[in-house]
Amino acid sequence: MIELDANQIAEATGGRLTATVDPKTVVTSANTDSREMSPGALFIARRGETTDGHNFITAARQAGASLVLAERETQDDQGAVDPAVIVEDSTLAMGRLARYIVEKIREHSETTVIAITGSVGKTSTKDALAALLATQGPTIAPQGSYNSEVGVPLTIFTAGLDTRYLVVEMGADRIGNITELTDIVRPDISVVLTVGTAHAASFGSVDNIALTKGEIVEALPAGGIAVLNADDIRVAEMAKRVPAQASTMWFSAAYAPPQREHLVFAADAGTTENENPQFKLQYFGPDANDADQTGHEVTAQLIGEHHTTNLLAAATAAYAAGISLDTIASLMPTITPTSAHRMARTDRTDGITIIDDAYNANPESMRAGLKTLAMLGRNTGRRTWAVLGPMLELGTSHAKEHILLGEVVVRLNIDQLVVVGSDARALYTGAVNEGSWGDEVDHVLSNDEAFDLLAQRVEPGDIIFVKGSNGTRLWELADQLTTVDLVGQKEKRK
Ligand SMILES: Nc1ncnc2c1ncn2[C@@H]1O[C@H](COP(=O)(O)OP(=O)(O)OP(=O)(O)O)[C@@H](O)[C@H]1O
Ligand SMILES: [Mg+2]
Repeated sequence: MIELDANQIAEATGGRLTATVDPKTVVTSANTDSREMSPGALFIARRGETTDGHNFITAARQAGASLVLAERETQDDQGAVDPAVIVEDSTLAMGRLARYIVEKIREHSETTVIAITGSVGKTSTKDALAALLATQGPTIAPQGSYNSEVGVPLTIFTAGLDTRYLVVEMGADRIGNITELTDIVRPDISVVLTVGTAHAASFGSVDNIALTKGEIVEALPAGGIAVLNADDIRVAEMAKRVPAQASTMWFSAAYAPPQREHLVFAADAGTTENENPQFKLQYFGPDANDADQTGHEVTAQLIGEHHTTNLLAAATAAYAAGISLDTIASLMPTITPTSAHRMARTDRTDGITIIDDAYNANPESMRAGLKTLAMLGRNTGRRTWAVLGPMLELGTSHAKEHILLGEVVVRLNIDQLVVVGSDARALYTGAVNEGSWGDEVDHVLSNDEAFDLLAQRVEPGDIIFVKGSNGTRLWELADQLTTVDLVGQKEKRK
């Protein structure tokens, strides 16, 4: 983080200093987690869903925090008031502090802020884009999936004065939510991937999701660039919401050019036998050179055809940020999944392959992952297992979406389905109704039961795909499956 003194933090947040603050106090990092403190840190005490950060102020100070941002005065064990900036709402205050920091960084030197939203693929795209930009200059991007009014400021707190590229992931669960985030950090380049059904419950309708995601392009300044997915109708519609002084660039893996000006196109998009995306990266626009139009062959390391969209989005944003297409194309094969549990493939020495996509799940990402599993099975003749937990946050469409997904598993000819958790029962029902029976499909209630079942039945050569909503912690099962000696477990049981 950039160095800030206590007065600057009070100024940025509109807070007041407790009498115990030494005005010369300087902070060099900021976090809401008392376990992440280093000497000179600002500890931000906020009330979370389950715990109140104000209870951890003593721990944070003992771990080195020199200043606290809090909603009320607190005292240490000796009864002395903890040195703090007191604000009404710590979460809002961290947003304000982040905004102040972005201003300082921009004042210091040229900085390009790229914000990414969409119903699926944000983190994958963010990781790909950060990998591209990091080759060109100091780049800051979120850890994991930090994308909220807490995660966005936490990302900005890790930036320095010399940050050249700042990549921000923006998630939303209500109308106006993206605007709140762009008020903290105004993007120069805004990327929209897809509008799907993620968080449909809290939004009420898909139209409301589109309304909200589009806020990201409305925030663009003069000279800003919207990077839009031409293959998603609701995203393409957002071009109308791009401010007059900003411009639009497109990416597509479907439309034959030159349907759009400024189009990054994946020609002949397909996958290798291992389901790595493969395409010819082309660019069409008034500024395109011959090589851009002819295109560059790309074979990526990510797994699944759906990553073509994410790679294209990252390529387009990088192009918008001034990197040449041939540089982008040459870097594409070096991109690997940086954040955990996203189509992470482990080839075990016993010949069993685990594909851990258990970070999260919604209908779109489930279908994408299952299709990849089916294709891998078809390409290689290996037996496929889908180990699926529930998709949460679907509201009233919960049962319907799970039944539909169960049908998809059968239609994709996936050999074995293991449904995990009582919330996912309808997935089992959907598969059975579609014609799966006997030991092709199982329903178990816990990760442990799923593990026991798999340990008994998997054979060398099998491919096991694991996926469910984050809240169901199915990634713990995936971790276990990647590390435990499955064949040995079976021998033991015999
Ligand atoms: N374009 C896509 N279409 C369908 N599924 C996708 C796509 N991109 C990624 N996925 C899958 O969706 C899941 C989430 O991916 P990722 O973490 O990149 O998305 P996200 O938008 O950041 O999600 P979140 O809102 O949970 O932060 C993963 O299972 C991933 O494989
Ligand atoms: Mg994410």
